[in-house]
Amino acid sequence: MLRIFAVAAAILVVNAGLSANARAEVTISISCSSLGIEQQLCKSSSDAWAKATGNKVKLVSTPADANERLALYQTMLAAQAKDIDVFQIDVIWPAILAPHLMDLTAMLSEQDRSDHFKVLVDNNTVDGKLVAVPWFMDAGLLYYRKDLLEKYGKEVPKTWTELTDTAKAIMEGEKQAGKSGLQGYVWQGRAYEGLTCNALEWIASYGGGSIVNADGEVTIDNPQAAQALDMAKNWIGTISPKGVLSYSEEESRGVFQSGNAVFMRNWPYAWALANADDSPVKGKVGVAVLPHGEGPDARNASALGGQNLAVSSYSAHPEEAADLVRYLTSAQEQKRRALEGSFNPTLRSLYSDTELLTANPFYEDFLPIVESAVPRPSTVTGRRYNQVSSAFVRTVHGTLSGQRTASAVLVDLNKELERLSRGGKW
Ligand code: GLC
Repeated sequence: MLRIFAVAAAILVVNAGLSANARAEVTISISCSSLGIEQQLCKSSSDAWAKATGNKVKLVSTPADANERLALYQTMLAAQAKDIDVFQIDVIWPAILAPHLMDLTAMLSEQDRSDHFKVLVDNNTVDGKLVAVPWFMDAGLLYYRKDLLEKYGKEVPKTWTELTDTAKAIMEGEKQAGKSGLQGYVWQGRAYEGLTCNALEWIASYGGGSIVNADGEVTIDNPQAAQALDMAKNWIGTISPKGVLSYSEEESRGVFQSGNAVFMRNWPYAWALANADDSPVKGKVGVAVLPHGEGPDARNASALGGQNLAVSSYSAHPEEAADLVRYLTSAQEQKRRALEGSFNPTLRSLYSDTELLTANPFYEDFLPIVESAVPRPSTVTGRRYNQVSSAFVRTVHGTLSGQRTASAVLVDLNKELERLSRGGKW
């Protein structure tokens, strides 16, 4: 408790502009993920903070794979290691890591609090404690090749059936023109958290729910979920390469960005890279909401993702660590990251910034996508979320690559999750 007050008081002092030079120089270590240009941007921003405050920053590089990063964090935090002061944490981890993170409530001004998307602030609040400050927001998007759709007179697909048909038609057309390497649709099919996001999107888009509902009831065994998984299974070896079962975000981007796929599912960061000067598809890419399924409950569904910054309870320099978080999550930094890397701000006001809208035209359509995005059931399942997601991924990956039908495996998954749920109490 004392520590919490110490940090709150220190933040007020730093905000009040007390000369940082008056204090001894410290080194703050920050862990950043390495998806796309994340490391690069994290380094330039942290260095700018170090320069402005007279401190030093050490960047600890961590794996891009969410599951590997969580395992690393859990090991370090369980040992109460002081090696990392500031952690980049995924939106699905606040409950899992909360016991090891400081309360940053005092850091958010009232103005920031009302500008940040409420869903994110609520997501990061565990038992009344703000364990992390929102940094950027993700939602699954459909990337498409404008030039190819135009060439074949096709519309941007609104349903998965349309996507499948369009992908097949363009692959066939290009094959006849001698380009047989073109893939129809690339996504994240490896057995990791990214597949949880993709599969949740397919299932929710058929009206099949989000694995566990807001009341804690396991809902995964339903016909729409089975239909959605059967659909994805049919893509493999037709519009998606067999290798998609080992793709994460970066492998999919590699195929799409080198000009070898018509469609890709990915997060917003891929926009800046696909349009970078060295990208073979620069200027040829469009972004749209992901297609929806069939049936009365069909809807567009993007998984809600994103990253936050948290301060370790074991940090030897909590005041400076909190100040670095304040700096990195400020409007000015969020804007810079959005311009340079299309990392979507968590501050609503930036979505009407004309400079940002020119650089990232899809921001205009992004607000409704985010507002209706499907969160993974990490709040309701709390500390057990990782077990839920792992069981889900195992089942989905097994279905996509194996012989059993989706309806049969979902019965087993439902039972497994019910056992884990302790009667819905989690
Ligand atoms: C992105 C998202 C994160 C998600 C991960 C899955 O990093 O921001 O929420 O868990 O991708 O690969």
